[in-house]
Amino acid sequence: MNGRIIFVFFLLALFTAMGVQGRQKQWIIGMSQCNLGEPWRVQMNADIKKAAEAHPNVSVVFKDAQNDNLRQSAHVGEFVRAGVDLIIISPKEAVPLTRPVREAYQKGIPVIVLDRKVQGNDFTCFIGADNKKIGRAAGKWIAALRGGEGNVVELKGLMTSTPGQDRHSGFREGIRSSAMKIVFEADMKWLEPNARKEMESALARYNAIDVVYAHNDPGAHGAYLAAKASGREASMTFIGIDGLPHEGQMYVKQGILSASFEYPTGGREAIETALSILNGRQVPKEITLKSRVFTGDNIDKGGALLEE
Ligand code: FRU
Repeated sequence: MNGRIIFVFFLLALFTAMGVQGRQKQWIIGMSQCNLGEPWRVQMNADIKKAAEAHPNVSVVFKDAQNDNLRQSAHVGEFVRAGVDLIIISPKEAVPLTRPVREAYQKGIPVIVLDRKVQGNDFTCFIGADNKKIGRAAGKWIAALRGGEGNVVELKGLMTSTPGQDRHSGFREGIRSSAMKIVFEADMKWLEPNARKEMESALARYNAIDVVYAHNDPGAHGAYLAAKASGREASMTFIGIDGLPHEGQMYVKQGILSASFEYPTGGREAIETALSILNGRQVPKEITLKSRVFTGDNIDKGGALLEE
């Protein structure tokens, strides 16, 4: 008899525990990535996946737009129709992705915009580092290194994306009070092969190039390869942005880049913020991530935080 009562209690306890478990809401997050052709974006997805794995009630559905605005718009629409609980988007370009983000948001789906911006305010939260500040820091750093003088090649990221615009205007501010001169600038659209080609044109036109400022590390590396192929890399200083351990940081260690400015992916913060939103907590409209600079002097100490 006693044994039977204990067994019934055991079953009751088990069902209660299962009920509690069952009641824990399962969240589905749709993650729209603009492309996976660059290591930095692969890292962003990996950071999101890792952060989400710590929460058994969260699953993330990833879509890769393969660098196509229309495809990315369609992905956002698919997430809305599938009834996901929240959308994270790292948009390719601001203008074409503004409308799908607004439509999702106005339908009541929380949207976190990650790394690149959209226009207006129709989203829940933007997360990213301050690209203007990074550009400005790069300008000041290079002006200090070169004694305020020198000819610069600027290899820009996609200028219809907000990081490209901000890394450009920030850099110009950073060198404003110096005598540094931009002799050549081109939009390499974030891609190493484009940067290499543009640098070949710059090398063909200018004998005196002192500095290459590229808006990301693949761009700086592409320029370095072009300069090396014409035997001119030793007299130049190359700086880039992203600072991934196996990319920018490694190039700094190898002496290929003089500096790489970190652009954190924000993957972990996006999942943390998503959970706050889903659990009904208030989140700021904008979350600005900190950035570090890696140079030959500090690379072994994990870089230095950008201050202003
Ligand atoms: C990858 C990338 C990074 C860059 C970021 C800016 O697509 O080009 O290299 O820092 O996008 O949005």
